[in-house]
Amino acid sequence: MVSTPVTGAVNSGRQYLPGSITEAASPNQYLLPLTARLNPQDHLEIGGCDVPALVHRFGSPLYILDEVTLRTACRHYRQAFQCYYPGDALVIYASKAWNCLAVCAIVAAEGLGIDVVSGGELYTALQAGVAPDTIYFHGNNKSVEELQLAIDAGCSIVVDNWLELKTLTQLCSGGQEQPTKIPILLRLTPGIECHTHEYIRTGHLDSKFGFDPDQLDAVFAFVRQQPSLECIGLHAHIGSQIFELQPHHDLAGVMVQWMSKAAQYGLPVRELDIGGGLGIRYTESDDPPSIDEWVRVVCQGIVQACERQNLPLPRLIAEPGRSLIGSACVTAYTIGSQKVIPGVRTYVTVDGGMSDNPRPITYQSVYRAVVANRMSAEATETVAIAGKHCESGDIVIKQTTLPPTQPGDTLVVLATGAYNYSMASNYNRLARPAAVLVNAGEANIILQRETYQDLIQHDRLPQRLHPTL
Ligand SMILES: Cc1ncc(COP(=O)(O)O)c(C=O)c1O
Repeated sequence: MVSTPVTGAVNSGRQYLPGSITEAASPNQYLLPLTARLNPQDHLEIGGCDVPALVHRFGSPLYILDEVTLRTACRHYRQAFQCYYPGDALVIYASKAWNCLAVCAIVAAEGLGIDVVSGGELYTALQAGVAPDTIYFHGNNKSVEELQLAIDAGCSIVVDNWLELKTLTQLCSGGQEQPTKIPILLRLTPGIECHTHEYIRTGHLDSKFGFDPDQLDAVFAFVRQQPSLECIGLHAHIGSQIFELQPHHDLAGVMVQWMSKAAQYGLPVRELDIGGGLGIRYTESDDPPSIDEWVRVVCQGIVQACERQNLPLPRLIAEPGRSLIGSACVTAYTIGSQKVIPGVRTYVTVDGGMSDNPRPITYQSVYRAVVANRMSAEATETVAIAGKHCESGDIVIKQTTLPPTQPGDTLVVLATGAYNYSMASNYNRLARPAAVLVNAGEANIILQRETYQDLIQHDRLPQRLHPTL
């Protein structure tokens, strides 16, 4: 079946279609995945698959992940580093954005490493076949078991605080012979402000993450004396969904200063991990820089700072999450009940909500949506999209314009690849949705829809509570 790429703004779902996309398109600047098209049925098609037909086949809510968009974003990062950085560079995917076997396998196949923040994420990455020496283990309260798992696997550990440093030294002196030194990076708080939601801002001084820069000397002096630890690098992350480039340029300068200080302590710091944070487009008014622009600024910042301080170029690491996967996925829902409050608001309700996308209720995030089975219908109604949870705040989109809708229509919320599935819950005992990976007309399940049986699989009913017959 022939699909038509559509450009031009009409007041309908078509306005969000990416149009004729070239490989140069930076996925984070588009509201829909790069393969999104309109097909002759006036349906939305992604990865060559008709979206209402996917819902018919796999049910809803349904996460639909476009493989081409995800792989394109990975390539943009790698190619930009090759272009702008004269030294060695590694891109690691911040898998907190969406961690599951298939996603880990795809990004690893694209030559990226992986950042994990828990034993569960680490286990998943290892099971997906990710090379342990490309895995970086973050977290501000890693347990002893998690640290041991990372050490046994041979990952690099991004140390967040004194307790962790001391725990690591104890683990190494616990009688077991450690074959090699444990590679660690130190996470520092750079004191750089950026304009994003306070919950996803991490680089300012009042942050729960990382060592305060005032402690630099004490930390370096301590680490230098630990025969079991090898401080290979320094890390900082200033926040997420950032559209400005200046904070990352500034961060590059600050990190090179830290590296210079580490050299004075004789530490073999050769990696600088600049974190992630590049934003994506969630609405037409969002205007994030491209992946290429972001990488260029970061690389220039590091190169210029190293030249100024006469230091060799470090291995440069970046750990994007949202800008790799956010725009690659949409969530398809089925529309159910409607409530019209004359003169106030119309609520259109879908069969999911805060359990599959907690971002609106957590960060007041704004999304756009289209009616996937009538893409060209004129958007004439202003409505709120409500979730089905017992919570007044469970509103997926506070205000949007849609064509008149009916129960059974397929509503697709855009740009849901990052921090949706990974933050999903079973609130109200809703089963978590399935996810399909689409590519060239094929759809493969990558996350099975949970069943009611799954929901009670860890419940235990003590004998005395069993109903008596
Ligand atoms: C330490 C660290 N690195 C990387 C990321 C990824 O950020 P983003 O998804 O904005 O690229 C995060 C997310 O908050 C983070 O905390």
